[in-house]
Order: sequence, then C-alpha cells, then structure tokens
Amino acid sequence: MIDFYSDTKTRPDRAMREAMLDAPVGDEQKGEDPTTRALEERVADLLGKEAAVFLPSGTMCNEIALKIWLRPGDALIGDRLCHVITSEGGGPAALAGAMIHPVDTADGIFSPEDVKNGVNVPSRYAPRTRLVCVEQTFNLKGGTVWPVAQLDAVSAAAKAAGLATHMDGARLMNAVVASGVEASTHAAGYDSVWIDFTKGLGAPVGAILAGSRDFIEEAWRFKQMMGGAMRQSGVLAAMCLYALDRNVERLADDHALADTIAARLTELPHVASINAPQTNLLFFTIDEQGPTEAALTASCARHGVQIGSFGPRQIRLVTHLDVGPSDVDPLIDALAVGLTAG
Ligand SMILES: Cc1ncc(COP(=O)(O)O)c(C=O)c1O
Repeated sequence: MIDFYSDTKTRPDRAMREAMLDAPVGDEQKGEDPTTRALEERVADLLGKEAAVFLPSGTMCNEIALKIWLRPGDALIGDRLCHVITSEGGGPAALAGAMIHPVDTADGIFSPEDVKNGVNVPSRYAPRTRLVCVEQTFNLKGGTVWPVAQLDAVSAAAKAAGLATHMDGARLMNAVVASGVEASTHAAGYDSVWIDFTKGLGAPVGAILAGSRDFIEEAWRFKQMMGGAMRQSGVLAAMCLYALDRNVERLADDHALADTIAARLTELPHVASINAPQTNLLFFTIDEQGPTEAALTASCARHGVQIGSFGPRQIRLVTHLDVGPSDVDPLIDALAVGLTAG
C-alpha cells in the first residue's frame, strides 16, 4: 500500500532503529536518562526556551499546556478546526475544563483583531479568556504557514489582553523549512510550544514540550499525574535525536513532492479546486458530478493507495519520508480511476 493518508504513517528505518542500540539510558522519571535529557536540552535550545520535557505524544503536550494555562471555566481562543478543538477527544473540556472561543478563518491563520474580539469583557457572567492557541503549520486548512509577523502580532494582542500563548508545533519544522526562519523565531511570542517527532521527522514515538523553567516543572506534575512519565525512554529519545539530525532539511523534498502532485491533479476529471500546498499537506475538492469523498478513498484503497477525506467532497494527501516521486504515477492513476467512476 502506498500511503498518502498522513505523515504519521512513516516507519522507522534500520538506521533509525540502530540509533537506539548504544543510547545510554536510565530512569527517566527520576531525571536519570541521559539521552532523554540531551534531547530535551537540544529542543529547548532549538525553540529558544529555558526548559523542555519529553512526552509520549503531541496530544499530551497540548493537554498538559491547557491544564497549566486554564482553570475550569476559563476560555481559549483558537481556530475552529485546530487539533485541540477537533481531535483530542474533548480533552480540553474533560481535563482542563476549557470553554472554547472558536475563530473562523480561511486558512487557520487569525488576526490580532480576532484575538481582541474573542476576549470576553471581565464580568461575573462571562468565562475568563485566558489563552490563545495557534497551530503551526495549520493541518486541516492545508498545512498553511503562519508568517512570523502574524505570529508576533497575535501574541502581542494576546499579551496586551493578559492572555497566555500556546503553539501547537506538530509541524513547526515544516514551517521552519518552508519559511527559512528559525524555530525559536516562530516560537518567540509563545509561552509554550512543542514539536512532534512522529510527523515529518519520521520517528515512531515522542514529542517535546518547551517553555519557562516554572512551566516545565508544572508540566512534569501533570506528566506524572497522567501516566506519561517513562523509565528507560532514551531508546525512544535516540530515534528522535536521529530524526533531528537527518530528517529536518529533507522536509523540503516533501514540500516539493506536494507541489508536483498538485500540478498533476489538474490532469484529472471532477477536481473542483486545489489548495496550492505551502508544505506537505495538499487538499483538493471533488465537484458535484464526481464521486463522494468516501467512494474515492475506498476506490483508491482498492488500487493500493491510501488517501484521506476530511470533510464533504474534500480529500487530503500528505507527503512524507515513506513516499517519493515514484509513487506519484500510481497515486494519479488510482485517483483517475476513482474520479472517472463517478
Ligand atoms: C496539528 C496537530 N496537532 C496535534 C497532533 C497530535 O499529535 P500526536 O499524534 O503526536 O498526539 C496532530 C496529529 O496529527 C496534529 O496534526
């Protein structure tokens, strides 16, 4: 199966697995795992923050950050389709007691005015607005890259209103490669930020949440409480270090492949619109005469190609380490069959 469903589908290759073999390890929960500590220090430095903590997943990074920034009944501002709101099982409500102020945008990128308009006037009636969440890149609107100036303007508006700022950086390194701007610059206005190793970086497990020393101390309390504290996690951290060394610059190849596919989609029938990809996520829509998104994904799967549907008549294709130029023809052929079948 050729898998264009998600960049989470990558499998660690032999060299990445071998990186585990000689990794020094210890009891991570006690702060005694040297490889995990090395990874935390490296990522804190990369993101320009004082400290960082290794967690099993990006979802746990988001949920722990929300628990730190919000008290039950407090509100956060974020795009309506951000991962925190749509894809974490209601965790913000269940774990942090969050109220949501969703912002509607075309591309996942909102403005300082959206922040100002989203902040409730303090009163005994309204939820207290406490946090702004941004997602870099923005997944469900096509891997869009927040320009750094917009990140800064939004964080300045948040700070002016007394809010904390959080960046979901599941694909921050894609934004870094696409923009040519360092990760620490993207994250400068954000009190908490994390990167994921299981997306474009190709590792099997792990994410790192970064912030001030006090924030990370508090994050450790919740990591322990939620059962995210580990033991000899250095074997996992070694693969993440390997990913940072080998798999960042090559994200440019994924972005170029997404461009190639976008150009090829113009050959196909019943493609109503194509979102020009900014990074590795490519969305297109099927016109009313074409098949439904479910019929097209099922047809492609029967022809050996996985694709994703995320909304009515909407298809998502994702490029990553485990797909390459030789997979484009089979993808286009499978799409042509499915789209022609109507
Ligand atoms: C934008 C975004 N945030 C958070 C996550 C959650 O990451 P994880 O799968 O590591 O929990 C994802 C996963 O797809 C994502 O796309």
